Parts: sequence; structure tokens; C-alpha cells
Amino acid sequence: MTTDFAVKIEQWYKQHKRALPWRETSDPYCIWLSEIILQQTRVEQGRAYYERFVDTFPTVRELAAASEETVLLLWQGLGYYSRARNLHKAARQIAALGAFPSDYAAILSLPGVGTYTAAAIASFAFGLPYAVLDGNVFRVLSRYFKVETPIDSTEGKKEFKALAEELLDKKHPSLYNQAIMDFGAVVCKPSGPECVLCPLCGSCMAYAHNRVQQLPVKAKKMKQKTRCLSYVYVSTPKEEVLIKKRAGNDIWKGLYEFPLVESDEGLSLSSLQQRFPVGKWSLLEHGFVHQLTHQRLLVNFYRLELPKKDSSLQGVWVKKSELQNYAFPQLLVKLLSRGL
Ligand code: ADE
Repeated sequence: MTTDFAVKIEQWYKQHKRALPWRETSDPYCIWLSEIILQQTRVEQGRAYYERFVDTFPTVRELAAASEETVLLLWQGLGYYSRARNLHKAARQIAALGAFPSDYAAILSLPGVGTYTAAAIASFAFGLPYAVLDGNVFRVLSRYFKVETPIDSTEGKKEFKALAEELLDKKHPSLYNQAIMDFGAVVCKPSGPECVLCPLCGSCMAYAHNRVQQLPVKAKKMKQKTRCLSYVYVSTPKEEVLIKKRAGNDIWKGLYEFPLVESDEGLSLSSLQQRFPVGKWSLLEHGFVHQLTHQRLLVNFYRLELPKKDSSLQGVWVKKSELQNYAFPQLLVKLLSRGL
């Protein structure tokens, strides 16, 4: 049965939906690409990246045939680079299968695809009756039905999943899922929701009880961590620069960076000079702040001019003019754009 809630949301969507390029297609490859890009990325920023990816790789086979470096370079600036590595891995799996998987379980088994993304692809591309549950949906449901259970608790996740599945318009899963997400993004916004213009306001339980701003409830508050990073731009008179591919398994794995020292407090120029007493040291940038979702990075950027390449240093020497061919974390792209 289609609920009054679904009817109203769909009506609103038909009148007010945002024109977005991935809504013009039912190609599962394009839909999957858009959903991976839009994980943790705003629509306005994601749109440009989506268009670049579709232009560069019109089909999954082309994406599968590209090198990981090419994919990371195109992804540069979007953050959460494991998404790009998984995208590439999944493209290779799909290309090997010969076609995009068309059932929920097979979609869910692709690298980088969780329950939200699998439901989005299954419903948008294949019309399958799976309800999406993302931040927008949690917010809309918690407010409309005044559900006070924390959305990040086991109990809350179960409760919201059941509610989302019950409300899904099983005849029009794509329309309904797009509608509730868009409604959450445009009307039932995290702060400053548009209750005055909202077509559901008359039956919204949070509105009736003046609880809109307090919902949804979250049990845990993520603690902010501050890290101090000192990068060194090591160069020679021939404009060769030392870069290193980042190893380890963190958000920047596979990207390039300049030699880096991480410390509890920012390192001074003199302490670096003591550690490496050759060449000419200078300070390029002090206390540059870069905000990640749960980390505040405090960055010092130094320059070390050497008379010639020093082979005892780890990394690869590249021409300064070729730096743009390597994918760097956005933080370093920003520092480089401030001039050297
Ligand atoms: N966010 C995640 N997926 C989306 C989509 N398909 N349309 C708009 N915003 C989104």
C-alpha cells in the first residue's frame, strides 16, 4: 500500500526535483559511478567529477582498463581516496563479469558498495524494491515520525531500516527513493529546515512537538583530533623535486606527497636543520589549517634547496613542471597553489 507519506513526498519531488545528470540515465554503470562519487561529497561538487569520469570513461570497460594512477588523478580533490581505489577494483570485477550485476546481493558484494549504495543502484537502475537509508532518510523519518532512538545505535539502525522498508513505494522504488533523499537535502535540511514551505508539515510529529532541531538523535559525538604535519619541498637548481608515494593504509594511500614528518607539536625550522644539516632551509607556510571530517591538520611547509639530487633520500625525483601528473592530497594541492 502506498502511504500518504509516500504520495506527498513523490508529489513534491515531481514538482521540485533537482535536474541532475545521473537522473537522466538508467545505465547502472553511470548510476553506480554517481553514487560512489556522492558518498561523502556534496552534489554541487560531485556533479563536475561525475561529468569528468563519464567523459573520460564512457563505459565500465574503459574505467577497468585505466591505471590506478589515472583514476586517482581524476579523483584528486574528492577525498576519501579508498573510494577511488574500490571504484577501480569494482570496475575490473564488473568488466570481467561482462555486464553490471543486476541483483541486490551481487551489487552489494562489489568493493565500496554498502547497503545504501546497493539499494540506490538496485532501485534506480533496475527498479528493484529496496529502500535507501542514508543521512537524508534518517533525518526525514526521525522528524516526521518523531523517532527519538539514536540513529547510530544498533537498535536505531534496526528500527529505521524497518520503517524505511515499510514506507517504500514498492511499485515505484526509484521515484520514492530519489524523492525522499531529495526532500531531505532540499526541504528537511540538517540546519534551517524549510518547515514553513513543507508539504508534510501538517502531519510532521517533530514539528507538532517542536523537536525538529533536536532530531535526529546521535548517541556518540565524534571527537576531533589535531595532527601536526611538517612537509618539506626538497628541490634542486634544475627544478627537480622529491616526492614519495604514500604507503600504509590510510585515507591518502596511493597518493603522492612531499617528505613528511609528523609530530605532536609543529616542528621548528631549527629542529629540521639539526636533523638534516645540508642545503638551504626556509619556511614557506606556518600553521596552515586543513579540516578533514574528524581531524584538524596543522601544517607547516618548508623548503630545502639542495645543490643537487641526493640519492640517500627516499622517494622519486620529478620535474617541478610534472608535479601535476601526480595525484596529491588536496591539502598539498592548496599549498602548492599558494606559490613556492
Ligand atoms: N546523494 C547520493 N545519491 C544521490 C542522488 N542519486 N541524487 C542526489 N543526491 C544524492
